[in-house]
Amino acid sequence: MEDLATLHEIAAALAGEQLRPSLQEVLLILARKGGISRGAITIVNPSSGEIRIEAAYGLSPGAIQKGRYKPGEGITGRVIETGRPIKVPMVSKEPLFLNRTGGHSSAKGEESFLCAPILRGGKAIGALSVDRPFDPGFDLDRALQLLTVIAAMVSRLVAHIEALQWEKEARQEESRRLKEQLKDRYSISNLVGSSNKMREVFQMISQVCKSSATVLIRGESGTGKELAASAIHFNSERAKGPFVKVNCAALPATLIESELFGHEKGAFTGALRQKAGKFEQADKGTIFLDEIGSISLDVQSNLLRVLQEREFERVGGSSTIKADVRIIAATNRDLEKAVEEGAFREDLYYRLNVFPIYMPALRQRKTDILLLADHFLERYAKENKKDIRRFSTPAIDTMMQYHWPGNVRELENCIERAVLLCDGGVIHSHHLPATLQTGQESDTMPRLALEEAVSRLERDMIIDALKSTRGNMAQAAELLSITPRQMGYKVKQLKIDFRDYR
Ligand SMILES: Nc1ncnc2c1ncn2[C@@H]1O[C@H](COP(=O)(O)OP(=O)(O)OP(=O)(O)O)[C@@H](O)[C@H]1O
Ligand SMILES: [Mg+2]
Repeated sequence: MEDLATLHEIAAALAGEQLRPSLQEVLLILARKGGISRGAITIVNPSSGEIRIEAAYGLSPGAIQKGRYKPGEGITGRVIETGRPIKVPMVSKEPLFLNRTGGHSSAKGEESFLCAPILRGGKAIGALSVDRPFDPGFDLDRALQLLTVIAAMVSRLVAHIEALQWEKEARQEESRRLKEQLKDRYSISNLVGSSNKMREVFQMISQVCKSSATVLIRGESGTGKELAASAIHFNSERAKGPFVKVNCAALPATLIESELFGHEKGAFTGALRQKAGKFEQADKGTIFLDEIGSISLDVQSNLLRVLQEREFERVGGSSTIKADVRIIAATNRDLEKAVEEGAFREDLYYRLNVFPIYMPALRQRKTDILLLADHFLERYAKENKKDIRRFSTPAIDTMMQYHWPGNVRELENCIERAVLLCDGGVIHSHHLPATLQTGQESDTMPRLALEEAVSRLERDMIIDALKSTRGNMAQAAELLSITPRQMGYKVKQLKIDFRDYR
C-alpha cells in the first residue's frame, strides 16, 4: 500500500514539463516516503557518453560536480553499461564502490546501495540510485523492484523532454541554415537586399563579373554605386589584381589628366619626377571612375581613346602604354541631358553605356529597409561592443515611413548614431534622428512634433514593457514605475491592446 502511494506521488511529480525540477521532486518523495539518505538520477550524454548527475538528494553541490563517471566505471557505470539493476546490501564490503561523491563514510554507519537503470529502447540512458541506512530486516529486493518501476517512469519523461529538445535544436538549425542561404542569395560582397529590384542588380552583377566589359553604374547618391563596383571587381577574374578608385569630381580639371595617365618629369611646373597614373596602377585590375559625369571635354577625349584602343600616353610623354584594365564608371548625373547640352561626348557616352546598372533608390525598395537596418545594426553593435539585438516595432514603423532622400548611406548613418545613443538591448524610435519622426511632409513643420514624439516614445516603452511581461499590465506598470491606473489610462489613450502581447 505504502509503495502504491509513493508511485502515485511520483507519477504526479513526473507530469511536469521540466526535467530537473521533476527529477528533484522524485528524489524528495523517495526521501520522505522511502527513508533514503541520499539519491541521484544520472543521465548519459548521448554525444560524449559521459554520465552526469542530473538531480540529487543529500549530496553537496561539490559532490555533484565530482559525480561524473565514464560508462563502466563504478556501480552506476556498471548498471548503465549492462542495463541491469544492482543492489549492494553493505557498502563497506563492496570493492566496486568508487565512492566518487564521498558520501559513504563509515562514520555514518553501514549503508545499503541500490541502483536501477533508466531504460529506453533496451538501452540504458541513465540510472536512479539511492543509499539507505543498513537494516538487516529491510526487504532490499522489493525496494529494488520499486526503484526499477520508478526508473521506467522517469524514462518516459526524459524521452519526452529530449524529444522536445531535439525538435528545438532541429528548428534552430533549420532557421540558421535558411538565414545562411538567404545571406548567400541576397548579398554579394556586403551588398545587401532581397527586393526584386536588388535581385535584378545582383543578376546583372553576376553576369558582368565573368567578362571584362566596361560597366556604367547609375543611381542617386548613397545607393551603393561604389559598393557595386567593388563587388564586380572582387567577384571577377581580376579580383587578385588592384582595384583603383578615382573620384573625378574631387580633382581640379588641370590635375585629372596627370592623375589618370601619369606624367613625365618636367611635363609641367611641379612635375619633379616621373609618375605613374591610375591607369598604370590598375594594370591587370579594375579602375573605378567615380562621378564620371564631371570630367572635362579634354579628358573625355583621352578617356575615349583608352576605351577604344586600350592605350594612352603619360602627360608630356611620347611612348604609348598598353592598358590591361577593366573600367567601371559611376555617376548620379543625367548623362543623356549632359550629352544634349554638349557637356558630355556622345561617343564616350555610348562607349561607357554598354552595360549600365541602375542602383534603385531606397524608397523604391522599401522591403530592403529592415534587412539593411539589421545588417548595419549587427555591424555597428559589434564595432562598438554593444549587445543590441533588435529594433522596437515603432522604430521599424518610423524607418518604413520615411522617404530616405540620402538612401542607404543615410540609413547607415542613422543606425550608427542610434547604436551610439542606445544603452539597452533595443533601438527605439527616439534613438532615430528627429527628421525621421516628423512625418512624410518635410516642407511643413508639424505643430505637434513634440507631442507626437513623446507619444511615440510612450508607446514604444509601454509595448516593450508589455512584451517582456507577456501582456501583464500590473507588472508592466511596475517596470515603467507608473501606477496600474496610469497604465490603464495610457494604454487606452494609445490604443494598445495588452492581449496582443500575451
Ligand atoms: N545594398 C547595400 N548593402 C549594404 N550597404 C550598402 C548598400 N548600399 C549602400 N551601402 C552603404 O551605403 C554607403 C553608401 O554607399 P556608396 O558609397 O556605395 O554609395 P554611392 O552610390 O557611391 O553614393 P554617392 O553617389 O554619394 O557616391 C556605404 O557605406 C555603403 O557601404
Ligand atoms: Mg560614390
